[in-house]
Amino acid sequence: MTTKSYEVQQSEQITHDIEGYLHDQEHKSFLRFITCGSVDDGKSTLIGRLLYDSKLIFEDQMASLENDSKKVGTQGGDIDFALLVDGLAAEREQGITIDVAYRFFTTDKRKFIVADTPGHEQYTRNMATGASSAEAAVILIDARKGILTQTRRHSFIVNLLGIRHVVVAINKMDLMDYSQDVFQDIAAQYREFAENLDFSTIAFVPMSALKGENIMAPSDKMPWHDGPAFMTVLETIDVARKKAEKPFRMPVQWVNRPNLDFRGFSGTISSGIVKAGDDIIVLPGGKTSKVKSIVTYDGNLDQASADQAVTLTLEDEIDVSRGDVVAEINQRPETTDQFQAHIIWMGEQPMLPGRPYLIKTTNKTVAGEISALKHKVNVNSLEHEAGKTLELNEVGLCNISLDEAIAFEAYRDNTAMGAFIIIDKISNATVGAGMIDFGLRRATNVHWQAVDVDKTARAEQKRQKPVVLWFTGLSASGKSTIANLVEKKLHALGKHTYLLDGDNVRHGLNRDLGFVDADRVENIRRVGEVSKLMIDAGLIVLTAFISPFRAERRMVRDMMEAHEFIEVFVDTPIEICEQRDPKGLYKKARSGEIKNFTGYDSPYEQPERADLHLHTGTITAEQAADAVIAKIQEKYLSS
Ligand code: ADX
Repeated sequence: MTTKSYEVQQSEQITHDIEGYLHDQEHKSFLRFITCGSVDDGKSTLIGRLLYDSKLIFEDQMASLENDSKKVGTQGGDIDFALLVDGLAAEREQGITIDVAYRFFTTDKRKFIVADTPGHEQYTRNMATGASSAEAAVILIDARKGILTQTRRHSFIVNLLGIRHVVVAINKMDLMDYSQDVFQDIAAQYREFAENLDFSTIAFVPMSALKGENIMAPSDKMPWHDGPAFMTVLETIDVARKKAEKPFRMPVQWVNRPNLDFRGFSGTISSGIVKAGDDIIVLPGGKTSKVKSIVTYDGNLDQASADQAVTLTLEDEIDVSRGDVVAEINQRPETTDQFQAHIIWMGEQPMLPGRPYLIKTTNKTVAGEISALKHKVNVNSLEHEAGKTLELNEVGLCNISLDEAIAFEAYRDNTAMGAFIIIDKISNATVGAGMIDFGLRRATNVHWQAVDVDKTARAEQKRQKPVVLWFTGLSASGKSTIANLVEKKLHALGKHTYLLDGDNVRHGLNRDLGFVDADRVENIRRVGEVSKLMIDAGLIVLTAFISPFRAERRMVRDMMEAHEFIEVFVDTPIEICEQRDPKGLYKKARSGEIKNFTGYDSPYEQPERADLHLHTGTITAEQAADAVIAKIQEKYLSS
C-alpha cells in the first residue's frame, strides 16, 4: 500500500460509494496500542508520522505544521512531526490535565487507537492507565543509546499489565548509518532481557521515524532487513481471536426489568461465546440456569461473543444482581474473598496495609484491605525489595482481603476478570490499580461459632450498655488523664470498664510497632479488634490513642454497631501540649532526636464531627470527665 494511492482510493470511494466506505470502516479490525519512550527517542515524531501518513491530520493543522516547521527549523526543510504531537498536547493541557492522550488513525487494513503517555519516571501511573486498555506496546529505543533503564521499566510495566505483543522500534537508524550490526546487537540484548518477561510475540523493527524509513513501506536504506515495515507489523498483530476462544464470562452491569414480564441481565461479554440454550452459572452465588434468549437493540441473536454488549434472559427465575458474573457452567471462574495481586500505587498518600479501601472489580465495589505487602518490585532493576508501604508509582506484590467474595480469574488469563482498582474511602480518588495473580484459600474452613451467652446477656448482667469511648488527640493533650478520671467515676458508679491506653498497649500486644504511618494504622486496627471483643464482653471500653488518621478512626467505628462508638476529641492546641511535655518528647522532636512525631513530621487529622468535642484549653480535666459521663449517662449507664 502506498499512502498516495490509499488516499486517492479512499476519497474516490467516499464520492462514489459512501455506503461501501462506511461498511468497510465498520468491519475493519481494531488494534489498541501504547507507545513507550520519551520525546528524545523520537516518540512524538513517530506518532506524528503515523497520523500524517495515514492522512488523518486536518488540513489546517497541516498548514500550521508546515509553517511552524519552517519557523522553528530544527529539521531543515522537513516537517517536524514532533511539533504536531506536542502542539496537540499543549492544546490538551489548557483544560484539565489528562496524562494519557488517545489518538485515532486508520489504514485500509485496520483502525488504530494509540495511547500516548509521558515517558518520565514519575509517570508509571499514566503508563499503566494507557497500557491497561492496550493489546500491543511499541517500545522505542534510540539506536544511538541502546537499551536503557527506561526500556526495562516500560517493558516490565506493559508485561505486568498483561500486554503480550511487543514491537521494539529501534529508531534513529539514520544517525547510525542504517547499520545492521547496531540493530542486531540491540535486538539480541532485548531478547535476552525479555526472557524473564511473558510476551508471546516480539517484533524488532529498525527505522527512522524522522525520515520515514521503514515506517509505511520497507526501506531501501536497510535492504538487509527482511521483516515487514512498521505499519505492516501493526496491521498484522493477531489479537482478535483469543478472547472469543476463552470460556464464556459476562459481568452483569445492570438488571434490566422494564416490566413484570421481562427480566434480563445486561453487560459486555468479557470473554468466550454464549448461545441460546447454554447452561450457565451465576457467581459468586452459585445458582444455575439456561440461557433463554440473547437480546440486543437489533433483535435477538443465536449467539454472541467477547466485547458484545447484550442482555441475557434465563429459563429460571434466579437471583442475579449487578456485579455478579454469568459464566459457562463447566469452566467456571473461582470465587474468593482473599487473593494475591500485583498493585501499582497511584495515590499521593502512600498505601498502608490494614487501611480500609474500596476494591472495584469489573462491576462490583466491595470494602477490603491490603492485608500484607509481600515485597516491592523495583521497576528499573526488577529486583524485589522489602517495604512497609507503597509510594506513588511504586509496584508491589500484596495479599488482599475483601469483606465479601467475588468471582474472578487470574489477570493473565482474563484481564477483565482479573483487574481491579483501589479507591480511597474518604476522598473517593483512585489510588491504585491491581492485577490478580491467584486466589488464597486460607481459613475458608473456619466458621463463626455461635454461642449461647451473647453480648446482650453479658451486658444485662452488668446493668449497662457496652460502648467504646474513643479518645483522640495529640500526645500530651490529656487523653489518658481524662480517660482515667472517667474510668474512676464509672467504677464508683459500679460500672464494668476497661481502659486501653496507647503507651501501655505498646508494651505488650503492640510491642512490635513503631510510629511510621503503616505501624500506626496497624496499632489502631488491633486496638479496634480488641475493643470489639470487649464490647462483646459487655464492657464500657475507654481507649486513649493519638489515632491520628480519619480513615482508621472510621474503620473502628464501622467495626461496631452505630451506637457503640463515641468519638471524643481531646482538642488541646499543640502549643499547650508542648508546654506540658510530660515525657520530654516534644523537646526531642524539636531537636530532631525522634522522628515521625505527631504534630511535627507526622500529621494529625482532626475529627470533622466528633461525637464529643472537649476544648481542654478552657475547661479542667475534671470538667471534661464530667462532660463525658453526662454524654453517656442516660443511654448507656441506666439499666
Ligand atoms: S498512635 O499514633 O499509634 O495512635 P499511640 O497513641 O499508640 O500513637 O502512642 C502515642 C504515644 O507514644 C505518645 O503519647 C508518646 O508518649 C509516645 N510516642 C513516642 N514516639 C512518638 C512519636 N513519634 N509520635 C507520637 N507519639 C510518640
